[in-house]
Amino acid sequence: MRTLIEVQNLKKHYQRGTETVKALDGIDFAIKSGEVVSVVGPSGSGKTTLMNLISCLDVASAGNLFINGQNVTKFKEKQLIKIRRENIGFIFQKFYLIPSLTVKENIELPLIFAKKDFDEKKTQTVMATVGLQQKDDIRVNMLSGGDKQRVAIARALMNDPQLLIADEPTGKLETQVRDSILLLFEELSRKGLAIFIATHDLDLAEKTHRIIHLQDGRIIPKVESSLY
Ligand SMILES: Nc1ncnc2c1ncn2[C@@H]1O[C@H](COP(=O)(O)OP(=O)(O)O)[C@@H](O)[C@H]1O
Ligand SMILES: [Mg+2]
Repeated sequence: MRTLIEVQNLKKHYQRGTETVKALDGIDFAIKSGEVVSVVGPSGSGKTTLMNLISCLDVASAGNLFINGQNVTKFKEKQLIKIRRENIGFIFQKFYLIPSLTVKENIELPLIFAKKDFDEKKTQTVMATVGLQQKDDIRVNMLSGGDKQRVAIARALMNDPQLLIADEPTGKLETQVRDSILLLFEELSRKGLAIFIATHDLDLAEKTHRIIHLQDGRIIPKVESSLY
């Protein structure tokens, strides 16, 4: 399988007054297409920072980040937007759906941002993929938590990403719903999509192909589950 993401000695330091917060303190790993990888660690360990760097929403302080073989570390904003749009779909913890719009309208939003034409067949295919067929015209605020998550996943898939990034995707979902979302991730990965999930839910992490344990901005070999 092809390497989609490679991270070398990646660092993100924040300045807080006179104190330097080492949110990421030199990490290395790679993700290949078709892999479902989770990153777990206690609150403040650097999960969101890592997700934001890989999503090209933020830039590293040092180290290298390769996306599809391109070293994006020195990329300017315009290039970052392009690489993000062409490679990455993301699902945020709070979904960021527009409640007053319908399922279909929410899913089609990325097309507007990317100035792409609407494609009814494409929208219907994506909706069927995530299990939202026939829910086109339902307002998002009427949906269950699980279906809202499906809308967020569908929206992330509209630009045909090779990598799906999810920061705490099942945070407020019940176990059963969470497992059905994981099943969907598994199906997507079989089609070659790489999925990278940040979570503090070790149960969920154990169902992914590989776990990266973060602590104080570093990757550690393995930890006791009681830490979370
Ligand atoms: N914008 C920021 N400015 C200063 N410190 C930050 C910022 N974002 C995150 N941090 C700090 O970086 C560390 C890692 O945070 P974060 O990546 O959000 O961890 P997690 O998602 O694992 O809870 C924490 O100590 C946090 O306070
Ligand atoms: Mg976080």
